[in-house]
Amino acid sequence: MIRMETILITGAGTGLGKALALTYSKKGFSILLSGRNEHPLKTVEQEIEQLGGHAAAVVCDITNSHSIAAMLNALQEKNITIDRLINNAGVGYFGELESLSEADINTILDTNVKGTILLTRALLPLFKKQQSGRILNIISTAGLRGKVNESVYVASKFAVRGFSESLQKELEHTPIDVTAVYMGGMDTPFWENSDHVKDKSRFKTPETVAEKILSEDDGRPEIFVDK
Ligand SMILES: NC(=O)c1ccc[n+]([C@@H]2O[C@H](COP(=O)([O-])OP(=O)(O)OC[C@H]3O[C@@H](n4cnc5c(N)ncnc54)[C@H](OP(=O)(O)O)[C@@H]3O)[C@@H](O)[C@H]2O)c1
Repeated sequence: MIRMETILITGAGTGLGKALALTYSKKGFSILLSGRNEHPLKTVEQEIEQLGGHAAAVVCDITNSHSIAAMLNALQEKNITIDRLINNAGVGYFGELESLSEADINTILDTNVKGTILLTRALLPLFKKQQSGRILNIISTAGLRGKVNESVYVASKFAVRGFSESLQKELEHTPIDVTAVYMGGMDTPFWENSDHVKDKSRFKTPETVAEKILSEDDGRPEIFVDK
């Protein structure tokens, strides 16, 4: 019997993470749904299981290395291996730079940059031991060019771009791949509590973007841009 590949997706209770979870599940992957709030993760878990797929909710705050270690230990105790990681969790606060509080700045950088780095650092020894692994870093077109009233968010996504490109070089002679994914706006809860985007309904749906990511995934590109 062929073992199902397991993907750990961060921020999988909402938006693109949820869409990726459902899309990869339909393709036959087992999904570990990660995020800070258990309720939305459990709802996605039920949705996937009702469709005949396999999923499990695992609560984790990626900004906290203890929370990451606790999640990975709990999975190890259940003999659950991880074949792929999708670093999708991210936050954004927008407006003129001086309107952002230090707390806002910390949250953006801690989640988008430090969280991505900490979780990747925690999983790399497992991937190296099993001599396989695949990492998708969900960035944004904000990782490709500067934008008005998005300075800190853009800075965080440029950082993840640099992190991804450097890891690609660092892992060049290993069986571990890293893909940097750059997409434009999506109609997700990301824009709730913000008037930075006037009409998010003009954006692509996360389901459309998730399908495109999956369709590119087999080619294991270093970069995937979906504007
Ligand atoms: N929406 C867009 O227009 C757009 C465009 C390009 C790129 N992106 C990127 O796409 C990714 C997904 O965003 P989205 O649009 O789907 O927004 P979203 O629905 O707000 O999803 C973000 C997810 O991240 C999780 N999260 C936040 N902080 C976390 C933490 N400390 N630890 C673990 N999980 C955390 C949230 O769950 P909890 O709150 O439960 O933890 C939430 O499920 C982000 O990286 C975003 O930057 C979005």
